[in-house]
Amino acid sequence: MGFRTIEELCAELDEKRSKALAGGGKEAVEKQKSKGKGTARERIAQLLDPGSFVEIDEFVTHRCNNFGLDEKKILGDGVVTGWGTIEGRKVFVYSQDFTVFGGSLGEEHAAKICKVMDMAMQMGCPIIGINDSGGARIQEAVDALNGYGKIFKRNTMASGVIPQFSVIMGPTAGGAVYSPALTDFIFMVDGESVMHITGPEVIKAVTGEDVTGEELGGAAAHNTVSGVAHFEAKDEAECFAQVRKVLSYLPLNNLDDSPVKPTGDSPERADVSLREVVPVNPNKGYDVHEVLTKVFDDGEFTEVQAGYAKNIVTGYARIGGRAVGVIANNADVMAGCLDINASDKASRFIRHCDAFNLPIVTFVDVPGYLPGADQERGGIIRKGAKLLYAYSEATVPLISVIMRKAYGGAYLAMSSKSLGADVVLAWPQAEIAVMGAEGAASIVFKKEINDAADPSAKRLEKIDEYREAFANPYRAAERGYVDRVITPEETRKAIFMALDGIQSKRDATPSKKHGVIPH
Ligand code: HXC
Repeated sequence: MGFRTIEELCAELDEKRSKALAGGGKEAVEKQKSKGKGTARERIAQLLDPGSFVEIDEFVTHRCNNFGLDEKKILGDGVVTGWGTIEGRKVFVYSQDFTVFGGSLGEEHAAKICKVMDMAMQMGCPIIGINDSGGARIQEAVDALNGYGKIFKRNTMASGVIPQFSVIMGPTAGGAVYSPALTDFIFMVDGESVMHITGPEVIKAVTGEDVTGEELGGAAAHNTVSGVAHFEAKDEAECFAQVRKVLSYLPLNNLDDSPVKPTGDSPERADVSLREVVPVNPNKGYDVHEVLTKVFDDGEFTEVQAGYAKNIVTGYARIGGRAVGVIANNADVMAGCLDINASDKASRFIRHCDAFNLPIVTFVDVPGYLPGADQERGGIIRKGAKLLYAYSEATVPLISVIMRKAYGGAYLAMSSKSLGADVVLAWPQAEIAVMGAEGAASIVFKKEINDAADPSAKRLEKIDEYREAFANPYRAAERGYVDRVITPEETRKAIFMALDGIQSKRDATPSKKHGVIPH
């Protein structure tokens, strides 16, 4: 018996590596590229710091004998897995290879994903999944389903422990959509990503509806209508830049702190133009993004779910280099009212920030919950309760800036002192009251107005009287519901100082298995 030489053994390894690198073969790769899509490994290279990727399990193959699959084994089994760095910070990744069985998920394909998920949890690092798959590998039947189940369980266990991102770069059909939906964020690419439970053909057959895949589950649909996705990019390069950007605000895990980004933007900077951005007249709209970019470091604000429920704005920013989560009512859309979608959007982002130790800065200008039969029947009570719940259970530092209106239940819901805000700041034009002056005067002085010789003149007089008495921040400041009344240009420094004062906050909720959050 003779031994092969080391050269022969290394040559064999080289050959296997080349085979694994070839994925589904030249033709399938060309087909992928002709659609403007990157290959699984190209995508990883684009996402991670150059040269940082370490691949594992490249020789894994399936062990299915059904429907002639035993004749067709491809090294890697349709998913590339491993780890690398983003801005020098370790992340674990998997990237489905559509050139191999359409990126479909079988037993071993799933086991590879589970392995990197487990490693990410053990090392306390984020996991990023690049999804491009025809769903459950049909030939592998229930083993494929079991694979999905194992991933879902891991997604759930990892939730709030490590950041989990799902990048959708192709089809994601059937139950395959649920792993992304269990992660923190879904990133989609225009004209490339599609997510749906049942496709257009099945829908046509069952309900008779005519709908295209793009209308049903394209990037625009999920970023504006369903609220399933959180980021929309014009191409893969922009999508990866978004992933890297979002990660820069987050800690690697729930026991870690976010990285501090040094800035030359002084915390003392006072932008007097803020006085003009928010009109004193509570009936006038404005774009709250302008407030955010004037207040935070270097005019930077990274928005999350920019296209969905635009009446509330959620995202990340930094102050004095420290990352914070931001929630802001947007008076430009539905006067900044809270509705079902806004409550859903904000409460999930609050919980995300709370899980990952990001202080939350809330900018308040809210006339109330949106009135309407659709809203009531759609469950605004439970959705509104969800927002109250999210702020109430948050233990991270909470800072609120009441810019203008803060009425009724919506005042309470938007990070009020009563729910646990640590520092509440208010601008001089803030109106903290049960409702707006017009509604309040009409109710409180109803008899007096009706009995007057000129009821409409009397009504205006009473509105002014109510406004003078209650439409200001001082009543709330007298009670300590507002900690400081500040000028708009003092906002940046006041938030910086507040954060400095409360950064070391330690707070805990009562010991329990988990609460029962209203949905
Ligand atoms: C096995 C699959 C596959 C699958 C695609 N392929 N999907 N193989 N299982 N689920 C294979 C194709 O046979 C083909 O192989 C290759 O991948 C490329 O597929 P094409 O159809 O040629 O590509 P394209 O025209 O781009 O269409 C892509 C597609 C389509 C839209 C994804 O393939 C498709 O509709 N696939 C089935 C989708 C589906 O119904 N999946 C199951 C969902 S149910 P060859 O050898 O010809 O190159 C599900 C349950 C999960 O996922 C439940 C979890 C709880």
